[in-house]
Amino acid sequence: MTLTNLIVLLLAVASVVQGQLRGAISSETHPNLSTSKCTSSGCTTQASKITLDANWRWLHGPAPDYNNCFPGPGWDATLCPDPVTCAKNCALDGANYANTYGVSTSGSNLTLLLFPQGGGIGSRVYLMSDDQHYQLFKLKNQELSFDVDISGIPCGANGALYFTSMPTDGGQSAFVNNKAGAYMGTGYCDAQCPRDIKFINGEYGSCCAEVDIWESNAAATAYTAHPCSMTGSSRCDSASSTACSVCDSSGCDFNPYRMGNTSFFGQGKTVSTSPGKLRVITQFITADGTSTGALSEIRRGYIRGGKVITNAASNIAGVSGNSLTDTYCSAEKKAFAETDTFAAKGGMKSTSAALEGGMVLTMSVWVDYSAHMRWLDSSYPDGKTGPGVVRGPCATSTGDPADLRSAYPNAQVQFSNIKVGDIGSTFGPPYP
Ligand SMILES: *[C@@H]1O[C@H](CO)[C@@H](O)[C@H](O)[C@H]1NC(C)=O
Ligand SMILES: *[C@@H]1O[C@H](CO)[C@@H](O)[C@H](O)[C@H]1NC(C)=O
Ligand SMILES: *[C@@H]1O[C@H](CO)[C@@H](O)[C@H](O)[C@H]1NC(C)=O
Repeated sequence: MTLTNLIVLLLAVASVVQGQLRGAISSETHPNLSTSKCTSSGCTTQASKITLDANWRWLHGPAPDYNNCFPGPGWDATLCPDPVTCAKNCALDGANYANTYGVSTSGSNLTLLLFPQGGGIGSRVYLMSDDQHYQLFKLKNQELSFDVDISGIPCGANGALYFTSMPTDGGQSAFVNNKAGAYMGTGYCDAQCPRDIKFINGEYGSCCAEVDIWESNAAATAYTAHPCSMTGSSRCDSASSTACSVCDSSGCDFNPYRMGNTSFFGQGKTVSTSPGKLRVITQFITADGTSTGALSEIRRGYIRGGKVITNAASNIAGVSGNSLTDTYCSAEKKAFAETDTFAAKGGMKSTSAALEGGMVLTMSVWVDYSAHMRWLDSSYPDGKTGPGVVRGPCATSTGDPADLRSAYPNAQVQFSNIKVGDIGSTFGPPYP
């Protein structure tokens, strides 16, 4: 289980369809976020930017009224009688990042507020190589590292950094009515085949592979591979369950608490989530040690207080290892009595194909209206007992978004220092 678009669904924020126009009531200025590309001879800075996902933006009709195309609970019947007309009438507008959406950058630092001043919840942003394109990451035989301060994200919330197989132009070239493109944050897809697009006459889900590098709060963490049986992204008819089940929505995860080490991750634990930076290192190992080889393993390490910390090993009977591999994944599914959808969708082989095609980096902060994030930090699913059910120390009663808003109005996550490059090249000293 991973990111769902329930936040978006339930807030009834305007959603993306076949595309739409670019509005200009507010100017769109993509915040700069510098990142680094590294080799054994050092790192160079890249002038990356971010854009806010289209679902969060104001979607409005033409002048002079600029009526909201999605006043909620449904679409405006005049502007949006059908998807094509809607896409032709409605424009996504520029975002006031800091004030409305709680998204701000400085140098290589990105801060995402869970409860922005604008009154919404959370945000989702994508890294861009230029104003019209998402940055494409090819991660085989590569390493990604970043610093995160997760101390401000409580039980029930999630400060996430992950990759999906989104089109780099946001679908602008594939869909004739999409004039907004990556510039306005269109084209999202993930392994849950999010159905927010359904708002326009219940038509589509948007499926693609997803590699969750970091889904976390101060109490629990997981990294998860969600392969699909196809590459790229594909729309599925929500009426047809098979087309909407091309991806492994459960995924193969490594959550140290779930794997039996309850003292490894959290405040004051081996990998401490007390305030300050924690460096998270992820390595994409191939069988032959080249960038064209088959992905065999996704490894995890951390640096905290100047110390490099290897991921905890599984303590679950029948499951060994401290990283994602096909062997680990099938043993985990068996030990936890779960259907092995990871293997069914092609396991590491399909994950390898997704990485081969290049993936887009997403960062988000979100809450979970349906399961209150219990799949990450508490007990899940409800009513099940036995190995794998307990995933973290959080009470099953936590995570109601309304409670979070009143108890943690300033909840936020900070990501910084994103570096990608050859194995071993992205996390040298100085350490956080
Ligand atoms: C982003 O960086 C460019 C180039 O350094 C600069 O010209 C521009 O003003 C910056 N944009 C913002 C929003 O800071
Ligand atoms: C990034 O944030 C850290 C604190 O987390 C701060 O020390 C550093 O100065 C910030 N860097 C920039 C360029 O703002
Ligand atoms: C948890 O992981 C740490 C670091 O690998 C290790 O030192 C410790 O013994 C583990 N605890 C258990 C109960 O396995």
